[in-house]
Amino acid sequence: MSEPKPLDAENTLKQSGIHEEWVDNYRTPDNEQFYNMAFDLITESFGSPSGATVVDAGCGSCAKSKNLADRGFQVLGTDLSDSALDMARQNLRGTSYENKIELQQQNLTAMTLPDNSVDYLVCWGVLMHIPEVDKAIAELSRIVKTGGYIAISEGNMHSLQARTFRFLKKVLVRERAGVHIVPAGIENWEETDEGRLMTRQVNAQWLIAEFEKHGMKIEKHVAGQFSEMYWMVPTKFLKKSIHIFNHFWFKIIRAPGLSFGNIFIFKKL
Ligand SMILES: C[S@@+](CC[C@H](N)C(=O)[O-])C[C@H]1O[C@@H](n2cnc3c(N)ncnc32)[C@H](O)[C@@H]1O
Repeated sequence: MSEPKPLDAENTLKQSGIHEEWVDNYRTPDNEQFYNMAFDLITESFGSPSGATVVDAGCGSCAKSKNLADRGFQVLGTDLSDSALDMARQNLRGTSYENKIELQQQNLTAMTLPDNSVDYLVCWGVLMHIPEVDKAIAELSRIVKTGGYIAISEGNMHSLQARTFRFLKKVLVRERAGVHIVPAGIENWEETDEGRLMTRQVNAQWLIAEFEKHGMKIEKHVAGQFSEMYWMVPTKFLKKSIHIFNHFWFKIIRAPGLSFGNIFIFKKL
């Protein structure tokens, strides 16, 4: 694979196929149950203000925007990708969400929103696909008001799932092409039918330090889903078992260190 460039990732995300695949893999009833618990936690951390506006940065098909609208927020859903925004529009058309969710095209690395203009911001599973993640973090921190909050969800490079996959790949495939170890985490560039896609498993300590550089203080760092392997396993029984374990880990254990999903809540000082 020739040296990947940030624009390769953006071009891939402009295609519709990649978004359809994400919806198929993640928008399942078991996942909806988890997202409901996760968004209760996020909005409680925000102080659950009714009627406030929240930016869903990298909203995709805007499923998480709906989770936020259901909890009383007005939502501004933004995404880089026209095809994701088209899916989002179709999703909202003719529903009561049309009055609660506005959509806008925005690149997280160059947001057009003014400094200190946003009270609450959610960025779920997005930074992991942005090569110039430091620019995106600077932008998100810039647009949030002093006293405002940012909630982030990312995959953790130190999780049991990530470590097991790395070990298996090393032993079975002996192929490291497309894998880059960087301060932000481990970046994996893969060739998809839509073009090159970058997915990073984050180094949580780097992420926290990077937000702190921009005046954001970490308020909460907890586990999300312990494993996302449910979409890879073949039987319903195995899928269900993973979801039950994820539920237990999220509700009872909460420790993010070994968990694949990590949720971070930052407050601007
Ligand atoms: C894995 S999807 C997650 C979508 C949504 N947050 C969710 O959880 O359902 C990642 C989304 O981030 C968007 N994205 C990636 N890079 C972006 C960028 N630089 N600016 C804005 N959006 C971006 C993609 O187009 C895609 O819709």
